[in-house]
Amino acid sequence: MHRPTPAATVIPDMMSSWEANVSLGVKTSTSTCVFILLLLLLLDVSLLAGATSSPVVNPCCHYPCENSGMCVRFGADRFDCDCTRTGYHGENCTIPEFWTRIHLLLKPSPDTVHYLLTHFHWLWDLINNSFLRNILMRVVLTVRSNFIPSPPTFNSKYGYLSWESYYNISYYTRLLPPVPEDCPTPMGTKGKAVLPDPKVLVERFLIRKKFRPDPQGANLMFAFFAQHFTHQFFKTHHRMGPAFTRAVAHGVDAGHIYGDNLERQLQLRLHQDGKLKYQVIAGQMFPPTTQEVPITMSYPGTVPDHQRLALGQEVFGLLPGLTLYSTLWLREHNRVCDILKEVHPTWGDEQLFQTTRLIIIGETIRIVIEEYVQQLSGYLLNLKFDPTLIFNDQFQYSNRISLEFNHLYHWHPLMPDSFLVDGQDLTYPNFLFNTSVLLHFGVEKLVDAFSRQQAGQIGGGQNIHQRLQNVVELVIKESRELRVQPFNEYRKKFELKPYNSFYEFTDDKELARQLEELYGDIDALEFYPGLLLEKTRHSAIFGESMVEMGAPFSLKGLLGNPICSPVYWKPSTFGGAVGFDIVNSATLERLVCQNSRWCPYVSFHVPHSDVDLPPREPTTEL
Ligand code: HEM
Ligand SMILES: *[C@@H]1O[C@H](CO)[C@@H](O)[C@H](O)[C@H]1NC(C)=O
Ligand SMILES: *[C@@H]1O[C@H](CO)[C@@H](O)[C@H](O)[C@H]1NC(C)=O
Ligand SMILES: *[C@@H]1O[C@H](CO)[C@@H](O)[C@H](O)[C@H]1NC(C)=O
Ligand SMILES: *[C@@H]1O[C@H](CO)[C@@H](O)[C@H](O)[C@H]1NC(C)=O
Repeated sequence: MHRPTPAATVIPDMMSSWEANVSLGVKTSTSTCVFILLLLLLLDVSLLAGATSSPVVNPCCHYPCENSGMCVRFGADRFDCDCTRTGYHGENCTIPEFWTRIHLLLKPSPDTVHYLLTHFHWLWDLINNSFLRNILMRVVLTVRSNFIPSPPTFNSKYGYLSWESYYNISYYTRLLPPVPEDCPTPMGTKGKAVLPDPKVLVERFLIRKKFRPDPQGANLMFAFFAQHFTHQFFKTHHRMGPAFTRAVAHGVDAGHIYGDNLERQLQLRLHQDGKLKYQVIAGQMFPPTTQEVPITMSYPGTVPDHQRLALGQEVFGLLPGLTLYSTLWLREHNRVCDILKEVHPTWGDEQLFQTTRLIIIGETIRIVIEEYVQQLSGYLLNLKFDPTLIFNDQFQYSNRISLEFNHLYHWHPLMPDSFLVDGQDLTYPNFLFNTSVLLHFGVEKLVDAFSRQQAGQIGGGQNIHQRLQNVVELVIKESRELRVQPFNEYRKKFELKPYNSFYEFTDDKELARQLEELYGDIDALEFYPGLLLEKTRHSAIFGESMVEMGAPFSLKGLLGNPICSPVYWKPSTFGGAVGFDIVNSATLERLVCQNSRWCPYVSFHVPHSDVDLPPREPTTEL
């Protein structure tokens, strides 16, 4: 506090010292001395004047408030930290209150917890099959979710609480306010006046030299699920700007299947038995084309009309992995409609559709928690989707997608160098926007291929395919435009120790040296490069920060869904016991195998050996 001194307080001080010096000068009684002193004083005055004419630094540029205290500027040069309910007090919210002190003493470090959760098989064998599983799962859900403010707080325009930022859901929310506009450097007060060229950052540190597989064994089935699932709530509204989203449901609403607005949904629906429109090719169900369903899709001009699939999400024509999942969910939706109709012969199209949609959302959340997050975390604790676990805890059933979550989820290193399907090696030009790949190979062969091919390691740097260079450059550019706070500030927000140096941040000395040269200060390192370049955990897909920051956003979004609330979570919401059972027994394998002619190898991780698990016999006919 009280750092820079404004002109008003400087001038009187100066005057008194002027008088003191003058009187001193007179006492020496030699005119030369007086002259020299006067000269020195004049010089001094002009220097001081120079200092006072430079703009006063906004004290909040120093991020002075620790432990989630709120920095508020008063006057030009003063600030106040509001430490209310942070568990800390003092000028900068640094002094822990009694219970905080106890909590800090007992709290193990994230690395310790991670180590426990990923080692000691014998221990987890006991826990997985006992009541302890529920207790630990509840702890995971509540501890993680508590990091996410609910109701949401800031956005890219408002670095303070405001009705507009609460109410205008076109914005992504922000966990931390933007860097104030009037700071001395782009990241606040630390680092250089100019941030490193994004192109240099990406080419030097992020672009792949040689493919590095994920040590946890995630496959392309996982990678495309990640992209498919998250693009229901990450839909940047580029026309409005990078601060805005088109997905105003802010969560798992299956808008990537049904469209993000009513008009699109009505186009995609068959208006019979609750079903979605489809086309049949060689006896199998596929999404319709834009000729039958005239909705906006982004395809390049080279794609002929009869190959333009019409999907809930505008960009899902991009990759066969996305059209594959769209096809699976389309078939699942229509399959569930049939089941519901059988038990509810009186129900009309609308009720069948709406109830099926809730079932699809429930299935999604179960697969995400019990298989997708399970794979990603590497935890030996058997994760469980059971909303009742937190019914006795304080929890807000609402969610707002944040910009930081969007940036964090740019997991482009997952993508391989090429795509191996049924003995063919498909390059990016063969694969991108090629809807024939799905129609040509069919669901079964694609699932089998994607389940067997390794995905790339996300963390550790230098693992993004050349083709995706623009995408990562863009996220860095947008984070600057939107003034995203430094990586270390996010570390603190998630109760992680800020890194003291680039050498602590990464074990790669040469990388640390170059980053230091480019950024000047570890406290000026940016959010996204920080997440991708941080040293990875041993044999893990990424480092500590991605897990500790990603998990809270993720779990809050999953459990904050209205279907998880005590009001909704009951059989009648899903059309009775039959529908509730579908939600409670959903797995990735069922999603695939109940909607395909034969059951391929289907998983979020590669088989443990290449000859593992040959495709099984055909099970269901479609
Ligand atoms: C070959 C595969 C992929 C291609 C060609 C691709 C391409 C793109 C493009 C062009 C954008 C839009 C950039 C922009 O204008 O903002 C984007 C955004 C994004 N991508 Fe990818 N991507 C691929 C794979 C993935 C994967 C596997 C993930 C994993 C989660 C992912 C996550 C994201 C996210 C979160 C965004 C931001 C979306 C938004 O804000 O609207 N991408 N990608
Ligand atoms: C609070 O933060 C300010 C600005 O960073 C600093 O000058 C001051 O010494 C801090 N006060 C305490 C009590 O730590
Ligand atoms: C416990 O659960 C984890 C994760 O699902 C699994 O890897 C492990 O084998 C399980 N152990 C037992 C005995 O169920
Ligand atoms: C949200 O804010 C943006 C930018 O100010 C504005 O264009 C848009 O109309 C607002 N949306 C609503 C629903 O008020
Ligand atoms: C699209 O995929 C099909 C089936 O694999 C292939 O025959 C065709 O050549 C691909 N198109 C392009 C432009 O590579």
